Formats: sequence, C-alpha cells, structure tokens
Amino acid sequence: MELMRVENLSKVYGKGDTAVKALDNVSFSVEQGEFVAIIGPSGSGKSTLLHLLGGVDRPTDGKVFIENTDIYELNETQLAVFRRRQIGLIYQFYNLLPILTVEENITLPMLLDSHQVEKKHFKELIEILGLKDRLDYLPNQLSGGQQQRVSIGRALISNPSIILADEPTGNLDSKNSKEIIDLLKLFNKSYHQTLVVITHDERIALQADRIISIEDGVIAKDEVIRQ
Ligand SMILES: Nc1ncnc2c1ncn2[C@@H]1O[C@H](COP(=O)(O)OP(=O)(O)OP(=O)(O)O)[C@@H](O)[C@H]1O
Ligand SMILES: [Mg+2]
Repeated sequence: MELMRVENLSKVYGKGDTAVKALDNVSFSVEQGEFVAIIGPSGSGKSTLLHLLGGVDRPTDGKVFIENTDIYELNETQLAVFRRRQIGLIYQFYNLLPILTVEENITLPMLLDSHQVEKKHFKELIEILGLKDRLDYLPNQLSGGQQQRVSIGRALISNPSIILADEPTGNLDSKNSKEIIDLLKLFNKSYHQTLVVITHDERIALQADRIISIEDGVIAKDEVIRQ
C-alpha cells in the first residue's frame, strides 16, 4: 500500500540572479512500512526534500500526498496538526528544548495538540529508548546518544505513520550510531512505521530496503536492495 506520493516537486530558494534550484521536478512514492535511505553529495537537495516531505517548508511547485492527504492543500494550522500527528521528524542536532525535561520534551507534541498522553504508549516508548531513569533530566545533562533517543521519543509519541530523519547519527560515534539505527529499524519492522533516513554513512544506507540517490536536485538513482 502506498503511504506517500511525491509529484513533480520543485523548490527554488531566493529570486532572480541569486535563485537556487534545490529540487527539480522530483517524483516517487513510498510504500507503507518501507525503509528508504536517501543519499547524495552535500548541497544536492536531501534536506530540502525531507523538509518538503515533512510539511516543514512549502514547495515552489508540486505535491506531496501522505495517506491520500494533499498536505500542501492544508492551511498552516491544519498542516501543523497533521505534522504533529502523522509525521515524526528527527534531526542531526536533536532540536530539544533546553529548559524542558526529558519527559516534557517527549510529551510536548501531545500537549500542543491538547491530547492526553497515552500512559501505556509513553511507558513502552521510554522503556524501548532506555530513558526510564532520565525522565527528570534536562537535555544538557544527557549524552548525545541519549539526546537523540529523546528526540526519537518526541517524534514517536503521537504514533506517526512516517518517520523522517535527517542524518540522525551525523553527530554520534559508531556505537551510538548503531544503537540509534537499530532503534529506528525496530520501530520500522515491529511497528510498521515507514522510515526515510538521510545519511552519508554507506553502512546505514545498506540496511535500508531501498536507496534513493539525489544529485543536483534530481533523483539520479532509485534502487530496491531488499524486498
Ligand atoms: N534556506 C535556504 N535559502 C537558500 N538556499 C538554500 C536554503 N536551504 C538550502 N539552500 C540551498 O539549496 C541547496 C540544497 O541544500 P540542502 O540543504 O537540501 O542540501 P543537502 O543535500 O541536505 O546537503 P548536506 O548533505 O550538506 O546536508 C544548496 O545549494 C543550498 O545552498
Ligand atoms: Mg542536509
């Protein structure tokens, strides 16, 4: 079953002489439960693409459908709600709120949505992420790997259908990188959450079901490596 469909997506930053075409007429779809790695040189448009898939930025042209919702047809408020409920975003530098505790950072998306945090889901999540003993800590009292696990918790608290990660291990050593990728794969395989990960690390890309290579804002290659 198709979870996401991208149609003729383009993004131009700036205007006139200084305009940069970061993404040029990109189309593809992603199946429910698929693990897709996105690779490509620096500046090729990977983060731009991920931001557009996640509804963080609007395209210059083209459409993104997630579970048949044309996300850029939504107004800002509707899109913010859709994003919080359906999309789990994970960044290289965690983007945690420094004055909130681990528990508050994880549950923030639910509170913003005036949704009750489902206690059972929260407990299960912090158990899997190994954060049970750190709930009252502030982000700056945690290691990099722990901070990334908090950001995974925040991304997954609302049970999104798709997880989008932009170099989630880019700031971590190899042991922590492996732990983070293993966690993302666990959510992908056991909870059937679709997973799209940008990475510069070939070892990570080779664990995906499919590798999409972006070059100069276009898809240079799209290979299924595992069925
Ligand atoms: N906000 C912005 N304003 C202007 N240009 C931008 C903006 N964001 C990105 N770009 C440009 O768009 C192009 C693609 O950038 P993008 O961040 O998507 O690359 P990337 O593939 O993620 O690179 P990296 O691997 O270094 O993270 C680059 O040429 C970049 O300079
Ligand atoms: Mg990038």
